[in-house]
Amino acid sequence: MLETAKRLLMPSKRSDVPPFIVMDVMAAAARIEAEGRRVVHMEVGQPAAPAPQTARKAAQAALVQGRIGYTESLGIPTLRARIARHYRDSYGLALDPARVAVTTGSSGGFILAFLALFESGERVALANPGYPPYRHILSALGCEPVLIETTAETRWAITGKALIAEHRRKPLAGLVVASPANPTGTMMEADALARLIAVAEAEGIRVISDEIYHGLDYAFAAETAANLSERTVAINSFSKYFCMTGWRIGWMVVPDSLVRTIDRLQGNLAISVPTLAQVAAEAAFDGRDEMETVKHGYEENRRILVEGLPQAGLDKFLPVDGAFYLYADISRFSDDSLDFAKRMLNEAGVAATPGIDFDPVDGRHFLRFCYAGSAAEMHEAVQRIGDWLKR
Ligand SMILES: Cc1ncc(COP(=O)(O)O)c(C=O)c1O
Repeated sequence: MLETAKRLLMPSKRSDVPPFIVMDVMAAAARIEAEGRRVVHMEVGQPAAPAPQTARKAAQAALVQGRIGYTESLGIPTLRARIARHYRDSYGLALDPARVAVTTGSSGGFILAFLALFESGERVALANPGYPPYRHILSALGCEPVLIETTAETRWAITGKALIAEHRRKPLAGLVVASPANPTGTMMEADALARLIAVAEAEGIRVISDEIYHGLDYAFAAETAANLSERTVAINSFSKYFCMTGWRIGWMVVPDSLVRTIDRLQGNLAISVPTLAQVAAEAAFDGRDEMETVKHGYEENRRILVEGLPQAGLDKFLPVDGAFYLYADISRFSDDSLDFAKRMLNEAGVAATPGIDFDPVDGRHFLRFCYAGSAAEMHEAVQRIGDWLKR
């Protein structure tokens, strides 16, 4: 009887996904600020700037007009067409709007893609370090995330050789790639991405490309997987380049053969994506000038950190190619990135994310800094870290 009552209150095993450790850092930062002390926030991966004016105006106009109803499950047709045009303008790809599905952030796109591509129990390769929700969504859906170690020699990306070695050990059904990547900020050259996709597809491994940080590329231009193979699923979002995290809107480009599947899944899981966000997203494309100014701000922040952090004492970090992350090696100072992050927060007033959030193997040696704030904050962070490490 007691056992039955207990079972009624128990969550399922597959829902047992770990939380973000960065939440602890954020809570600690809030406590410090409540005491009246200053904190430079570099822990959360989101833009400080608002959505483009064009997007906000379009949303306001839609609200004034009144009725906000459901849309088609795959999204408002004019938005899908506008996204397809973006592929022509940005990548020289003639994309049929029918292959575009609008999603609830890229997060919604991952759920749809994993459901559409994989059976439960199938194995999906991910780069380590990497964005934790890939593995947590996969395991909640009953798939098996398989971490493949990346190193400086492979420019922190999965290579065809590493993928095949894992596939020979035990067959893989899928591969998730990300360029620019989170937490590393590193990118794959178009050639390397093309080679990896070709190797994967030759073995029947389906490729999902997370392109959420496209547009925020400084070292070289990011290539979309959609331009390299029509069989890949490319996932993107308005959250980062367009500064629309809270609007919860993204999209995916899928092979023709999957369009109807995604349509049926989304129709059942969510009916449609929030209409107001779709209206705003379509207008966001007209706000690119504003977003380019924001991007130039990130470039300046990147310069300040790349030049300043080595002088402050943090002289080892991964190539700072894109997104707005710098992944610093702190092994000279500590074997415990969580403890280091807590002390840096308490004693220097700079909040960053411990690498263990992104890498269960070697994350204790790394910290992720988000440089999406202001240039003044970057200078302040460099100064504070320098003073602290020299103490
Ligand atoms: C690499 C990566 N992919 C996907 C997401 C999810 O973003 P959203 O659901 O807002 O599009 C994030 C968010 O930080 C991210 O860093």
